[in-house]
Amino acid sequence: MKELTISKSELFIFDDRDDLMIGAADEIATQAQEAVKKTGRFTLCLSGGSTPRRLYELLASEPWVKQMPWGKTHIFFGDERCVSQTDAQSNFKMINDVLLSKVAMPKSNIHAPVGQDSNPEESAREYEQQLAAFFANENPVFDLVLLGLGPEGHTASIFPNSPAVGEKQKSVMAYRVDDAHGWRLTMTLPVINAARHIMFLVAGSEKQDIVGQIFSRTTNGHEIPATLVEPSTSVGMLSWYMDEAAAQKIPA
Ligand code: 6PG
Repeated sequence: MKELTISKSELFIFDDRDDLMIGAADEIATQAQEAVKKTGRFTLCLSGGSTPRRLYELLASEPWVKQMPWGKTHIFFGDERCVSQTDAQSNFKMINDVLLSKVAMPKSNIHAPVGQDSNPEESAREYEQQLAAFFANENPVFDLVLLGLGPEGHTASIFPNSPAVGEKQKSVMAYRVDDAHGWRLTMTLPVINAARHIMFLVAGSEKQDIVGQIFSRTTNGHEIPATLVEPSTSVGMLSWYMDEAAAQKIPA
């Protein structure tokens, strides 16, 4: 595993996907224990998509399932497809199937959007109110926000050239992305960037081009929302966790 730290960001490159997921699970368990020691709770905002599935399976299995302070961990969702929670496309369904249904945590610690399939914009407002209530009407500050990376540079459901890129007021918004992605609900960049720790989890050779563009800052004129993710506080930290396959085109 290679490690590189530049100002408020660090890059960890693992030999393969398995090592990446183990490394990420170790880091999350460590951060969880530290957060609970410091504040009595761990606020974890999860990513959807396919990459983190294996990570979530690990967190629900030995040794991590015992290392994680589930009773003091609060789970949030960085974005959601505007489908029912039983739909195969639902991030909640994937995360609940492989993780939340397998660990002993109070249901009240799971903070998920509701109604996104029937009324996306109302659901976004309701989720924003859930965040406001949880964070005592202060701006939401998560201990850890886990993010994925789309092949064209979207993260959470902040897609290139979308209204989500420039949103600075709302914590959560819903909008119709396009024919392929339909309606999405997403946390916005101000919330993501306010986190104490932001972790990108990226795996596979299909991501090497976008990773290469991001790390060589050659965006070819395209807007890459992932490049807008950067800690907005002096204590915030951004980590990139990826495997060799995804890191192939990072300039030496
Ligand atoms: C989602 C995610 C999204 C995802 C990327 C990468 O709801 O799909 O939040 O941002 O992380 O699209 O997806 P893969 O991990 O499937 O490549």
